[in-house]
Amino acid sequence: MDHLRQQDPALAELISREARRQASVLRMIPSENYASHAVLEATGSCLSNKYSEGYAHFRYYQGQEFIDRIEDLAVERATTLFGAEHANLQPYSGSPANMAVYFGLLKPGDRVMGMDLSAGGHLTHGAKVSFSGKFYQVRQYGLDPSTQLIDYEAARRLAKEWQPRLIFTGASSYPRVIDFAAFRSIADEVGAYLVADISHISGLCLSGDHPHPLPQVDVVTTTTHKLLRGPRGGMILCRGALGPKIDKAVFPGLQGGPHNHVTAAIAVALGEAARPEYAEYCHQVVKNARALAQGLREREFSLITGGTDNHLVLIDATALGLTGKILAVALEEAGIVANANKIPFDPRPADDPSGLRLGTPALTTRGFKEAEMDQVADMIHQVSRNTSRPEVLAKIKARVETLCAQFPAPGLPE
Ligand SMILES: Cc1ncc(COP(=O)(O)O)c(C=O)c1O
Repeated sequence: MDHLRQQDPALAELISREARRQASVLRMIPSENYASHAVLEATGSCLSNKYSEGYAHFRYYQGQEFIDRIEDLAVERATTLFGAEHANLQPYSGSPANMAVYFGLLKPGDRVMGMDLSAGGHLTHGAKVSFSGKFYQVRQYGLDPSTQLIDYEAARRLAKEWQPRLIFTGASSYPRVIDFAAFRSIADEVGAYLVADISHISGLCLSGDHPHPLPQVDVVTTTTHKLLRGPRGGMILCRGALGPKIDKAVFPGLQGGPHNHVTAAIAVALGEAARPEYAEYCHQVVKNARALAQGLREREFSLITGGTDNHLVLIDATALGLTGKILAVALEEAGIVANANKIPFDPRPADDPSGLRLGTPALTTRGFKEAEMDQVADMIHQVSRNTSRPEVLAKIKARVETLCAQFPAPGLPE
């Protein structure tokens, strides 16, 4: 950052401090990760200077010789890696990718089904406050109260009654496997499009730690910055026949020029994800989440569904006499960064929910294994018993910093 430091020292200092924060805390928000230096270099490259409305070889502006080759390469890597017939890498992020699916396949007012926010779904899966709940008629499916697992039979009954044109699957805070085949049979019964939003679990679908949604679903959407460890972006994969509708929805339907620097950085991340080390990384993400769940269970935490199959663990903080917010704030004071989250059938409001969501993707990128996850569970336990004792939280923070120093994070200055 030599140039930035010289030209705008105040901003450079803030970025440096954020880098030091990322290096010295346990980052456990399940949607966050550390991108590699190579991904960050592409994101910060001169490609940001170029306008390229359209798609490779069909542009509205001149000067696309290298941009076209970069987009071709990124698309080819995406289709090969995910086994998809068609890929669009232009969505600015995950929510715009989902918006493009609605926009491309439906008319405003069409009927849709998605997973309820408090069951673990995402805002864009039909929540009332999102465009998806405002421009479409939505009914939402959820969980079986006795198991806290997706209630596929209730979803089937709802689909038969509601006759949606499109069904969204996928989640932001669901710790178990999603049965895409069950959703395929539900969608087939009512003749609906089936979309899988794998933003959280994309890597696990590649490594075989979670069933792959293709070729069962019609469309797959994903962010590129979570488990995939790319830049912030979005991606849509689909059957070839749907490609033109999706492409038109992204551009010119919803966006102008693509962010070429992001497209290139996604290509870098996809190149990294194609290596055997990435599958090993994803296996370890799941092993670490299981070890964390076990460590927490042994310390008498109450976990939603009792554990995890993927990269995240959801705690009911009210079982400890706390709330998600109280626990998240105390954890941050101790150098452990997670987020308060709704739990299934949560009686508390979204801005002060009962749960806490913890993920292992970023810690696993640092090289944490099961033994470290047990130490992390122990520290979370200590915090939960001492939320209003700053002197204890300060001691745990020192322990966190010692642990972090042993596992340098990639992509940050050394
Ligand atoms: C399942 C799911 N879909 C979509 C998104 C939206 O992504 P973005 O925040 O990039 O718009 C998220 C974000 O966390 C998500 O969890």
